[in-house]
Amino acid sequence: MAVSPFALHVNASTHRHSTSPSFDHLKRSISPALKPIWKELQQQLPLKKIDVSNTVKKASGMVLDVLVDGLYRFVDQPYLPSQHPKKSSTATLASLWKKNFAPVQEIGEAVEVAYLEGELPADFLEGVFVRNGPNPLFGCLQSTVSPLGITNETWVEGEGMLHALCFKKTGDSDWSISYKNKYIESETLKLEKQRNKPSFIPAIEGDPLAVLAAFSLNRIRLNADNKFLCNTSVFEHSGKLYAIAENYLPHEIDSQTLETFGVWDFNGDWNRPCTSHPKKAPGSGELVIMGVDVKKPFYVVGVVSADGKELLHKVDVKLDKSVLSHEIGVTERLLKYDKEGTTRLGVMLRYGDANSVRWFEVETCCALHILNTFEDGDEVVVRGCWAITSILPGPDWGMDKFDWYARGYKFPPKKRENGNEEEGFLFHCVYEWRLNMETGEVKERNLSGTRTSMDFPFVNGKFTGLKNKFGFTQFVDSAASSSCGIVKYGGLAKLYFDKPQKLQFWVTLFRFVSNEYSPSLLDQEGECEQAVKVEYRKFEESSFCSGSVFVPKSGSAEGKDEEDGWIATFVHNEVSDETQVHIIDVKDLKGEPVAKIRLPQRVPYGFHGIFMATPNKN
Ligand SMILES: [Fe+2]
Repeated sequence: MAVSPFALHVNASTHRHSTSPSFDHLKRSISPALKPIWKELQQQLPLKKIDVSNTVKKASGMVLDVLVDGLYRFVDQPYLPSQHPKKSSTATLASLWKKNFAPVQEIGEAVEVAYLEGELPADFLEGVFVRNGPNPLFGCLQSTVSPLGITNETWVEGEGMLHALCFKKTGDSDWSISYKNKYIESETLKLEKQRNKPSFIPAIEGDPLAVLAAFSLNRIRLNADNKFLCNTSVFEHSGKLYAIAENYLPHEIDSQTLETFGVWDFNGDWNRPCTSHPKKAPGSGELVIMGVDVKKPFYVVGVVSADGKELLHKVDVKLDKSVLSHEIGVTERLLKYDKEGTTRLGVMLRYGDANSVRWFEVETCCALHILNTFEDGDEVVVRGCWAITSILPGPDWGMDKFDWYARGYKFPPKKRENGNEEEGFLFHCVYEWRLNMETGEVKERNLSGTRTSMDFPFVNGKFTGLKNKFGFTQFVDSAASSSCGIVKYGGLAKLYFDKPQKLQFWVTLFRFVSNEYSPSLLDQEGECEQAVKVEYRKFEESSFCSGSVFVPKSGSAEGKDEEDGWIATFVHNEVSDETQVHIIDVKDLKGEPVAKIRLPQRVPYGFHGIFMATPNKN
């Protein structure tokens, strides 16, 4: 049986089973564990109120629970790659890895925080800056060992925890700022908390038979294939805050207390997963959603009313297979992508159906995140983060996941021709596709070049779906990411879409005489294949950001004052082990932040954030 080397990272738990699963163990476990079932049956039978269907189902679940307890051993995954057999002597890697991927506890009541430097301007928005991210409930990610093989939780599978900074004005230019963090209380989180032990068998990565069994066992025992992670993103609609991961539905969150109100299933009309990145349509304020599933229908698009009360439109796009699709863009139409040998972008009228989708074949790539989409004459313009290989789980990992990521985050050493390069295959750039709706022509170009890898794009939200001049991303610290095998973002980038990059004379000459692209040569001389001006802000040494968002200036309207605002971002310094929130003037990206706010405890690296203005104030 094939064993993933990553599974060898597992570290025997000190508080769970320490011996290998065996049938002797199972035998010893079954007898006491069946007593409650028998007791329940005894209680019900004399009263003649037995619900056969439910009782059988419950009994099956309990029997399987006993089987799992007997045959499966949950083990903690270490946060130190020093425990990786190949990396045991690399102390530096261990210190890099452990710094800020480990989970934190809930802090309890909100804590008042103070400026470390600077102060908030008077026209900053009142509201809450929230970031989502994985925070494993039992202290670390889990693996299971069973006779069927090994399964592992991947690094994106920690339970969702929100970190929020609340900004309240107490005077003309005085502010009260408080910090709070809290788990998203999904049903599966509550279930595991109640059981006080990991219960869901990891069902994404591992030996094939073990993964297959994990789905079924989870479903029958716990009524869900996998945990509802809710750890990826946060979004706002009709004044309400939602947290989400795309394996389930959004959860409504109280933006002040971070309490979980419950699942939003669009009045019961959406019984399938939902994208982590729904988009609010310009003008109408409708929310465009989509959901990908492994079973038919594979890809469904929906339109939710601006007040959030109604699912106005739901259409099966009728794909013939399930495809990975993390983002959807919105203009007055809709978009998606599809990868399997070829990559396609589809444009659909918002209230269209499967027959109305116009497909455009583009160069094969992976585009996990969309920066913005808009219409420009006959063209639908899509700007997103382009990569040659997906960072999400896949067979490309081979036998050593850590090594695969470590090589992937290195700087690409040479021209990429396919997805099998030794290094640099996880490089991301901001890319533009122009899809001509009249002629069917596609124009593609790399906007940000080949020198700096970047992802987690964002724009001024008042320009979502509209033609815009500025885009923002977090850029990758290639050396730090490669060292620990997980991406770390060492700074921010600002793209000026209306300002072409000025090429040095010799580069122009080189291109003219050779008519050939050679990034390695261009890079040696300090230039790159880059179409527009890009400005960078690098954080101090050993500092990395997450959850960056655009905060528009108070009072600005949709489609106006695109550059008027700030970037808010969580910045963690691995030397001091301290997290700060930086507020940076968008017009002065390289200057000192207008405010640095020190948080009372570190915030682990995570995914997407949002700034949600206080309702009725703006
Ligand atoms: Fe995302």
